[in-house]
Amino acid sequence: MTVPENDVTVRGANRGWKKTRLTELLGLDVPIVLGPFGGLSSVTLTAAVSNAGGLGSFGLYGYSAERIRQTVDQLRSLTAAPFNLNIWLDHEGASELHPTDDEFEAWLAPLKPYFTELGVPLPELPSQFLPAFDEQFESLLEARPAVASFVYGVPSAEVVDRCRRAGILTVGSATTVDEALALDDGGVDAIVATGFEAGGHRPSFLRHAEESLTGLFALLPQVVDAVSVPVIAAGGIADGRGIAAALTLGADAALLGTAFLATEESAASDVHKAMISSDDARRTILTRIYSGRLARGIPNRLYAELLPSADDLAPFPAQNWIAGRFKPAAAQQGNAGLMSLWAGQGAPLARGGSAAALMSALESETARNLAGGGHTPEFRTPRNLFRASE
Ligand SMILES: Cc1cc2nc3c(=O)[nH]c(=O)nc-3n(C[C@H](O)[C@H](O)[C@H](O)COP(=O)(O)O)c2cc1C
Repeated sequence: MTVPENDVTVRGANRGWKKTRLTELLGLDVPIVLGPFGGLSSVTLTAAVSNAGGLGSFGLYGYSAERIRQTVDQLRSLTAAPFNLNIWLDHEGASELHPTDDEFEAWLAPLKPYFTELGVPLPELPSQFLPAFDEQFESLLEARPAVASFVYGVPSAEVVDRCRRAGILTVGSATTVDEALALDDGGVDAIVATGFEAGGHRPSFLRHAEESLTGLFALLPQVVDAVSVPVIAAGGIADGRGIAAALTLGADAALLGTAFLATEESAASDVHKAMISSDDARRTILTRIYSGRLARGIPNRLYAELLPSADDLAPFPAQNWIAGRFKPAAAQQGNAGLMSLWAGQGAPLARGGSAAALMSALESETARNLAGGGHTPEFRTPRNLFRASE
C-alpha cells in the first residue's frame, strides 16, 4: 500500500488519530504527554512539549509551596498552553515518618562512605523528609494548571471536587486493572496505565509494587475495557511505533518519560543522559535500594554495593532523602556509579536532540505507522545502537 505523506490524512477538518477524548478535553494538538519527573523536571522541557501541542508535565515531588509558585511563574512565562502538575499522595504515611536520632544514624551508616568519597558533609536529621501533601495541594490549586496528576493512590473526593471546581482536570496512575477501577470510582478525569516497562517509581497502591508488574501490552487494553474515562498509556514508549501501538490498543494518549529525559531540555545530568544511551541501559532493573520504593533504573555501583544490606536500608522517603544529599555531587563530578539512573526499558530507543525535534518526529512517525505504512526503515531510530558494541 502507498504510504501517504505525513499528516496529509490528519490535518484539516479531520484530525484523525490526533482527535481523542483527551486532546478534545484539553485542546491539545497531539495525544502525546510528557511524563513528570520528580526531582528532574525542567520548566523548559515541560513548556517545549506543551508548546509543541502535547501536554507537558512537571513533577513537584519534594517542592515547597513557595517553590511551586516560583516554578509555575516560570512555566507561565514560557508557555500559554495547557500543562500538568504532578504530586505524590501521602501513601503509607510517607510524610509522617519521624525517626529517632538513633534510627536516623542507623539509616545513614551504610551511605556514609559515599558522602566521604564525594566530599559532601553528613546530613542531620531533618524536621521532615517531604513537604506535607496539603501544603503542596493548596499551592497547586492556587496555580490552576489545566491538569493535576496524582500518584500512589486515589485522590480523596474533596481533592477531586476542589480541582473540578477550579477547572483542573484530575489524572490518577494505575499499575493494575483493580487500581484503574478504584481511580475510576474515585472520579478522576483520566487514568495513566503504567506498564512494568516504565522508568522511575512504580506508583502501585492496592498491592505491593512487586505484585503489580503487568506489561503495558497486556495492561492497557484491559484498563481501556474496564474504565469509563480516557486512558493514557505509559511504559516503554519511545517512538512513533510505540505511540501508534498504544493508540491502537485503545489509549487516548501516550505518555513518554525516558525518551524525553534524554533530550537537551531535560534536567537530567549529562552523565545520566550518557548512561541512557549506554549499553547498560539495555538491562534496567526494579529495585527499592535507591529510594526505599520500587523503581526502575540502570544498575550501577551503588546498587551492587548496597544490595547485600538491602534489608537494613531506610524506608521511603528517608532513603531517597539521605541518598539525595550526595547524588547531586555525584552528578556534578560525572560519577554515574553513585547516582540514581532512573530509566525505563525503552531507554535504548531514546534519541536525544531537542524536545521540539522529538515531538515533530513522534508526530510524523505515528501518522505514518497509523496510516498503514508500517514501520519503514527511514523511521528507524537513527543510531544503530544495538550493533554498536558487537
Ligand atoms: C527520572 C524519573 C522521575 C519520575 N518521577 C515521576 C514523578 O514524580 N511522578 C510521576 O507520576 N511519575 C514519575 N516518573 C514516571 C514518568 O512520569 C513516566 O510515567 C515514565 O517515565 C514512563 O515510562 P518510560 O520512562 O518507559 O517512558 C518518573 C520517571 C523518571 C524516569
